[in-house]
Order: sequence, then structure tokens, then C-alpha cells
Amino acid sequence: MPRLPPSLFWKARREISPLAASLLPACRDLQSTANELRWIKEHVQDTKSPIPAKIRVWRLVEKRAKGIPLQYVLGTQPFGDLEIKCRPGVLIPRPETETYTLHLATLLTQSHPPPPSLSILDLCTGTGCIPLLLLHSLQTTLPQTTPITIHGVDISPTAIALARKNHTHNPPPSPSPHHTLTFTQHDIFSPTLLSTLYPPNQNQKLPQIDLLTSNPPYISPHDFTHHTARAVRNHEPRLALVPSPTQLADGSNSRYACRPEDVFYAHLLEIAKAVRPRRVLMEVGGWEQAVRVVGMVFLGGEGGKDRGGGGGVGGYEVEVWRDEPAAAAASSGATGDGVERVEVAGREVVVRGVGRGRAVYLRLRED
Ligand SMILES: C[S@@+](CC[C@H](N)C(=O)[O-])C[C@H]1O[C@@H](n2cnc3c(N)ncnc32)[C@H](O)[C@@H]1O
Repeated sequence: MPRLPPSLFWKARREISPLAASLLPACRDLQSTANELRWIKEHVQDTKSPIPAKIRVWRLVEKRAKGIPLQYVLGTQPFGDLEIKCRPGVLIPRPETETYTLHLATLLTQSHPPPPSLSILDLCTGTGCIPLLLLHSLQTTLPQTTPITIHGVDISPTAIALARKNHTHNPPPSPSPHHTLTFTQHDIFSPTLLSTLYPPNQNQKLPQIDLLTSNPPYISPHDFTHHTARAVRNHEPRLALVPSPTQLADGSNSRYACRPEDVFYAHLLEIAKAVRPRRVLMEVGGWEQAVRVVGMVFLGGEGGKDRGGGGGVGGYEVEVWRDEPAAAAASSGATGDGVERVEVAGREVVVRGVGRGRAVYLRLRED
């Protein structure tokens, strides 16, 4: 990271406030410094405490100056219309996740005829931001009587406790007995995952899941060490970012013959094969990973069926979504009909929106 010139510190002190000079190394430019200082002051104004406001501002600035992300300093992050509580040990929700979550909610509510009921499963839920925003958006657009059942799952007890707090912190605009959202602590690699979430009934059939979402850990140990921003590496949980050693492709316990950073996708696709959700949305870490995951949908893990990938997941239309999936395709990538496509394993795949590769979206063909 390049060093900041001393003149910038003087400018921050003169044009913003003496406190701004402390914030500058964490914020890196004057505009962000001014914004963050304003948000810290607003936060202090809005929260009651016997400690004088000036001291509280100073303490928060000190924390932020150490490089602690603002969301952990203030304890919240806006996510759509929601305010998501954040705390160290649980990944901070990202704006790109918010964008595709809102787009998903729009797709679900715009389907014709409107869905008679909705069952959603969010694996690796963290703060619970994805299921909470989906529920909020669906509650405001679908009839109150449409049954909505949502499960959020995470291996981390800290995440699950925070997700439950976030549920209470973001009450529905109008509560309905037809809507349920449950957060469960579970390892998604455990063979008891589905029977825990959906206890077997008389006919032993799993309920139809309308949407499976997941933003899993997807960074390789090498990229985490060499290419992940220092603030993320030092302050956000590795568990949320890097698949843990027992799930690694090169670890002796792994069932999947794929790259270490793709191992959650191999497993999510196994779950999709068993459950056949109507739609599946998996967040990915960029274009190359998106293409690899599409390849896994078609062929199974790297090397196909014989190497643990299970031979792919048939019956789905597959799309790659960029950061802003609802935006018109960039003209350079678009073909004559204005739609961007990419060829993967000899098949054409539609690419939606603009920005970096952000998600792989599957839609069951009969839907
Ligand atoms: C990238 S974070 C995503 C959090 C949240 N969904 C979001 O978008 O902000 C990945 C999450 O996966 C969880 N996780 C890691 N390994 C897991 C496992 N084996 N089973 C379930 N959850 C796991 C982590 O605790 C973390 O909360």
C-alpha cells in the first residue's frame, strides 16, 4: 500500500478536523475520511451513554485508526432497507451481495402466476443478511397470506447468535403467522444437514425448495495470504473466507477433486442434486471462478464424474451474474441480440449485467 504524503495529513487536519488526520491512514483519501468522521459523530449522537460525546467520538476514531473496519466500530451496516448488526468474528455483508439479493427477490415476486408459497434455504448465512433481506422484500410485495419458510444455516455459533439478533433487530413491516425464518447452527458438510432442517415426514419426501442461496468461503489459502486486503485479513474471520483444511481438495478428508477454493461449490451442487431446488444462487469470487463453477454444474468437479464431482447437475438453465445483474449488458460482450454469452464445456451460457463475475444462477428447466 503506497504511503500517504505528509501534506495530505495537514490538509485533513485543516479542512476537516484534527481527528481526521488519525482516520486518514485507514480511510486513504479525504472524501472517505470526511464521510467516516461524520458517520462516527452521527452514531455517537444517536446512541445514549453517560460518557461525554467528545470522548466517545475520540475512542471510535482511535479504533478505526487501527484499521478495524467501520462496520465493526459502529456495529452496523445498511443492507437494502435493513440495518444489519455486525461484530468481529462474523463477515461484514458486502454491497454486491445486497444487489443480487434484491434482484433475486424481484425475480421471485415477478413470476407468473405469483408463487403460492416459498421455501428458501440459505447456506453459510453469516449475519443472516441474505435471508433477512429476501424475507423483508417478499413481505412487502407478496400477499400477507403467502406462506414463506426460510432457513439460514452457519457452522459458527457466533454467526448464528448474531443472525438471530438481526432478525429481532429488523422486525417485519407487518408480522404474519404465515412467515417463518429460522437460523440453525450446522456444518453444511454434515450428512445430517437436510434431515435436521426438514425432519422426515410420513411420506419421507423433502419439501420442494424454491430457492437455495449461498455465499460460501471461496478464497484459496494462497490468495488469502497474498491478495486479500490487509483490513479483511486482519479483522474478518478466516472461517468465512477460506474453506477450512478438512474441506480442502488437497486435504486427506476431502471428497472433492477440485481446487481448494471451489470445494464448497462442489458440495453445494451435491446438495442441489439431492434436493432439486427450483433456483440456486451461489456467490463467487470473480469471473474465473464463475466459469469453473459453471463447468462443475455441467461436468462435475474438475476431471468429471470419476474424480469426485459426481458428473454434474442436469436439468438447469445456467447463468453467470455480474455485480449488477439487472443492468444492460456491456456492449463489448453482447452479441447481436444484446445478450452476453460465454462458452463453457461446449455450451453457451447467458451472462447478465455489468461488473465482475459475482454469482452463478441455476433455474430448473421445468419451472
Ligand atoms: C462468505 S461468508 C458469508 C456470510 C453471509 N452469507 C454474507 O453474505 O455476508 C461465509 C460463511 O460461511 C460460514 N461457514 C464456513 N464453513 C461452513 C460450514 N462448513 N458449514 C456452514 N457454514 C460455514 C462462515 O461461518 C461464514 O459465516
